[in-house]
Amino acid sequence: MRIAVIGSGYVGLVAAACFAELGHEVISIDNDVSKIDMLRRGEVPIHEEFLPELLARHRGHRLKFSSDLQEAVRQSTAIFIAVGTPSTEHGDADLSYVEQVSREVASAIDGYKIVVEKSTVPVFTSDWIRRVMLLDGADADNFDVASNPEFLREGTAVGDFLYPDRVVVGADTERCATLLRQIYEPLTSGEYYKQQSIIPNTTKANIPPKIIVTSTKSAELIKHASNAFLATKISFINAVANICEAVGADIKEVCDGIGADSRIGRRFLNPGIGYGGSCFPKDLKAFSSVARETGYDFRLLQEVMNINAEQRSRFLRKVRSALWTLKGKKLAVLGLAFKGGTDDIRESPAIEIIKSLRKEGCEIRAFDPAACERAREVLRDEGICYRQSAYEAAHNADALLILTDWPEFAQLDLPRLKSVMTYPIVIDGRNLYDPRIMAGQGFIYSSVGRADVHTPISRPNGKGEKTATASPGKSQ
Ligand code: UGA
Repeated sequence: MRIAVIGSGYVGLVAAACFAELGHEVISIDNDVSKIDMLRRGEVPIHEEFLPELLARHRGHRLKFSSDLQEAVRQSTAIFIAVGTPSTEHGDADLSYVEQVSREVASAIDGYKIVVEKSTVPVFTSDWIRRVMLLDGADADNFDVASNPEFLREGTAVGDFLYPDRVVVGADTERCATLLRQIYEPLTSGEYYKQQSIIPNTTKANIPPKIIVTSTKSAELIKHASNAFLATKISFINAVANICEAVGADIKEVCDGIGADSRIGRRFLNPGIGYGGSCFPKDLKAFSSVARETGYDFRLLQEVMNINAEQRSRFLRKVRSALWTLKGKKLAVLGLAFKGGTDDIRESPAIEIIKSLRKEGCEIRAFDPAACERAREVLRDEGICYRQSAYEAAHNADALLILTDWPEFAQLDLPRLKSVMTYPIVIDGRNLYDPRIMAGQGFIYSSVGRADVHTPISRPNGKGEKTATASPGKSQ
């Protein structure tokens, strides 16, 4: 199939590379000429596992890059729209890029094509795309509009695309649904998985995935409702973690107990400093706004957002209660990205927490394996230094804060870490360590939904035992 993917951001670029991997002829379009030049030169603009391999494999063969949208549309049968849909100041999705692209596509349509929304968009967007395309002169017999939402996560996007739980196709005509089925056939038939040198499966998804064909409106709702449900799961467990702290229970034990029920599942039940990123915060607001427009006040979503915001404030209270005063304190910060495995700092809870700590007069020494450069662009602040490793960041620090769940942050050499810090205080917003191990290593350790660990100070006569104890959190 000849495919054009308009927009070469996280979703568009990954989709274009993966479609090429499935054997299609793909043109990846972007109006940012410098980005297209970069991609043509072989550079990879985002940090995404397996993307460099896929781009190297298909660039110049089955995958081309261009800024000429109209020519790409003329050459393609399926046109995927994967442009940004940022939040407006009122919280609803700004669809002006989608509209602009739809108009351009309309003027280039010269035979039957399908126009497929890949960006996360509110219900009724496919109707609007159809309407503006007709107004701009496209012949009604020459196109169908479909919705094919993407469920990939940043950091594991390629694996999520090639090993999905399900493929959702929203199409209102059989002709359109058939073309979309053909596009995903290498996955749904299992043919792709039989090939040599394919991208390995890093997800737990069963293969081959099932394809779910629905109306366009249902597909649009499936995307928003999926993200809203996952965010609800996170806020729910964060609320339970707060109760655990108050009563001295352990959120990990509680999560394991809840998650063992197959109706609930263990994934997305990890408490922390709240969800961030370019999707959940934006999509929750947009879905809430869509509901309001239909006359339904989706109060649950508002509460999910409130709990999420509170989680950051609670973490700051933990820092305060561990350090007493904050002015002039030297804090090591591990993690700037909104989650591990990505360089994306959009809506990152880590960035918000750092800004608040700077307002309180703390000096920050930060380390992130991928996101320092991006963070430096938004945190233009002399009070923040960027270090090359966790140990460099921790050097002479009054406390260490863990804000992103990078796997390497869970494997630190604890004696080495303790030896470089001024005080052995760790405040872990991602629960990467076992409190008993931290206690055994002599750390004062605070995490989310679990007992704080305090190390009693030796009595002046030297007879005091320097053993660690765990006690219920006092940081609410
Ligand atoms: C999310 C969805 O997981 C994808 O299915 C969806 O396609 C994507 O949004 C999108 O709409 O494009 P993503 O934003 O990349 O993917 O990241 P997630 O892995 O979902 O994490 C989102 C946030 O939730 C992160 O800040 C993460 O740290 C937090 N989180 C996640 C938790 O706090 N606890 C958890 O148990 C899981």
